[in-house]
Amino acid sequence: MATQIQSPTLVKGARGSQSTIALKLLMATSGIIFILFVLAHMYGNLKAFAGHDAYDTYAAHLRTIGEPMLPHEGFLWVMRAVLLLSLVVHVACAVVLWRRARAARPVRYQVKKHVGATFASRLMRWGGVTILLFVIWHLLEFTIVKINVRPDQLPTDRHDPFLLLVDSFNVWWITLIYVVAMAMLGAHLHHGIWSACQTLGWTLNTRSRRLARQIAFVLALIISVGFVAVPIFIAAGVITKTS
Ligand code: HEM
Repeated sequence: MATQIQSPTLVKGARGSQSTIALKLLMATSGIIFILFVLAHMYGNLKAFAGHDAYDTYAAHLRTIGEPMLPHEGFLWVMRAVLLLSLVVHVACAVVLWRRARAARPVRYQVKKHVGATFASRLMRWGGVTILLFVIWHLLEFTIVKINVRPDQLPTDRHDPFLLLVDSFNVWWITLIYVVAMAMLGAHLHHGIWSACQTLGWTLNTRSRRLARQIAFVLALIISVGFVAVPIFIAAGVITKTS
């Protein structure tokens, strides 16, 4: 009987690629959770087009979902916990995968052969950092501190979600931050959805590859345009405090 002798390097390499696949699967799963969240959040934001009462009713409803089975804001806290866990997993896997890719290439390329791939991975890295910084600012602005960027307004305004929204996007630089962040989000989602499809084995033939590219493009476009619509229409004076 022939004995198979496995080189330690090969065994290590096989284990490494197995855990790389596991990390990519975790990134894809946490990414899908984010996509579901941003789709729902974007849909909710669009209530701003229906006016003050519709938006505030929606914001209040978020706090009562699942009652009386869940306590007040119970659903929101479950969602926050899931999002936080997903964020930790997504960022940690990204860092480990990036370090592995760098370690596998100890000498920097002399000639850049895959300029497109290098650009995409750089965009993912910097896009991810930008989105993270954006989310921190966003939470401070609308949830944790409820920063009133219009101190000339009545102090009670900031406790009214619709008025806080309109006050914020009546400030040009706040709108600009959101436009840039949503462009980054769109680019990140475009490449991220495509990568997730690859990880999940949905790009094995030409037809499925084309479909995955189309899904990535359409979802990224819907989410970024859907989000950016509210700030733009407020800044343009179409959605106002009296809407
Ligand atoms: C134009 C884009 C966006 C607008 C106008 C917007 C608006 C808002 C508002 C008004 C709230 C407070 C809701 C409330 O407390 O009733 C909120 C919460 C939040 N937003 Fe956004 N958002 C935008 C984009 C995003 C994006 C792209 C993300 C994530 C990538 C995000 C993540 C969150 C999170 C995590 C919360 C906190 C939910 C909670 O814990 O209560 N938002 N957003």
